[in-house]
Amino acid sequence: MSPIGPTPRLVLFAALAVGIATLGLGVVGSEAGNAKSDEVLVAGSVCEAHALKARHAADPRLQIEIPPAFNVPWPTREACLSYAAAQDPDTPGLVQPIPFSHKHHAGLYEIDCLYCHSGSDRSPAAGVPPVQLCMGCHAQFPPTYDEFEGIRVLKEHWARGEPIEWLQIYRLPEHVQFRHNRHLIAGVSCQRCHGPVEEMDKVYMTQDTIWWPWLLPASKPQMGWCIDCHRLQGASQDCYTCHY
Ligand code: HEC
Ligand code: HEC
Ligand code: HEC
Ligand code: HEC
Ligand code: HEC
Repeated sequence: MSPIGPTPRLVLFAALAVGIATLGLGVVGSEAGNAKSDEVLVAGSVCEAHALKARHAADPRLQIEIPPAFNVPWPTREACLSYAAAQDPDTPGLVQPIPFSHKHHAGLYEIDCLYCHSGSDRSPAAGVPPVQLCMGCHAQFPPTYDEFEGIRVLKEHWARGEPIEWLQIYRLPEHVQFRHNRHLIAGVSCQRCHGPVEEMDKVYMTQDTIWWPWLLPASKPQMGWCIDCHRLQGASQDCYTCHY
């Protein structure tokens, strides 16, 4: 059934095997070179120190130097990794003005969704938290966190009293009525509509949210998605429920 017949596939595997073999030789060569050279890798930040320590643990021959200023536990390695992942343009989702990670805040540190999106159970809009709420925690953090450009951006906005201009991901046209509170009261979880946000370093629209009519991908929440669930859950399908 495969478009690649048995013979070309064999050739492909052979080519791959040769590729892997040369790659393997390359790695052995460079490791030998590394062990001989006296090059010392010096950390230039706390996050670099975490990364170098991890590399050293995997390969004790690697020579590393961690200046005392960067030999501190905060920010943690997890914070560094999440920050980097939230900034990665190659993963799905928009790169935000601050690389804020839900996986880090809502996942690892288990901060409740409603703590930051406090409108969800009370009003139509879930809302995005104000700078003051971020600073409630971040004003107490040691200055080593300033090595994250995003934290400096946060503090600049706080000092100037300006909101962060977060890019919007889920957005309905004006002629549609949507109410978060009605759904939460009915027991529909955030994840049912937004996916496993607490596992995302960068928020993106999940495939569950996107309705695929005729199997064409869509990039916004569509009417068919709303109607499908309303039918399943016995909620109203009347036009005037959503359009008035
Ligand atoms: C309830 C406390 C709390 C609140 C509120 C909070 N943070 Fe954090 N934030 C943390 C903790 C804890 C860490 C990580 C500490 C560590 O592991 O080093 C962190 C890490 C970060 C990081 C680095 C990791 C990452 O996510 O990229 C950024 C950037 C950040 N916060 C921005 C924000 C912004 C922006 C807000 C407001 C929208 C905010 N934080 C609100 C507690 C909080
Ligand atoms: C510490 C604060 C904080 C917590 C906790 C938090 N969020 Fe967020 N959330 C934000 C910020 C800031 C943004 C805007 C930046 C972004 O998209 O990452 C956001 C954006 C979102 C968006 C996209 C909004 C849009 O523009 O369409 C969704 C969906 C979302 N959050 C859901 C959740 C869910 C579900 C949880 C709990 C599992 C949660 N959030 C926990 C701060 C938080
Ligand atoms: C029934 C599906 C559904 C549920 C459940 C749901 N959302 Fe939403 N959410 C949406 C839709 C649709 C939008 C776009 C709304 C608009 O443009 O008017 C949205 C928008 C948002 C936004 C962008 C800001 C805003 O207020 O429009 C955030 C943040 C958000 N949701 C967070 C949450 C959180 C947190 C929960 C759980 C407490 C949650 N949502 C539950 C469907 C849902
Ligand atoms: C995952 C399931 C689910 C999805 C997806 C969903 N809804 Fe709902 N919706 C419900 C349930 C359940 C209710 C509650 C019915 C009740 O209150 O008895 C509801 C209620 C509503 C109401 C309130 C009706 C009232 O009486 O005020 C509106 C408006 C609404 N939904 C609009 C939407 C729109 C617009 C979308 C798509 C953007 C959507 N819903 C997507 C499950 C869903
Ligand atoms: C549960 C909510 C819901 C119900 C019920 C609903 N709609 Fe919609 N409708 C939507 C949403 C969400 C959109 C926006 C979809 C988008 O942006 O692609 C929409 C878009 C539309 C549009 C614009 C289409 C376009 O391509 O821009 C029309 C026309 C429309 N609806 C008519 C109706 C009619 C007629 C009914 C009753 C038979 C109805 N709707 C019932 C949620 C609903």
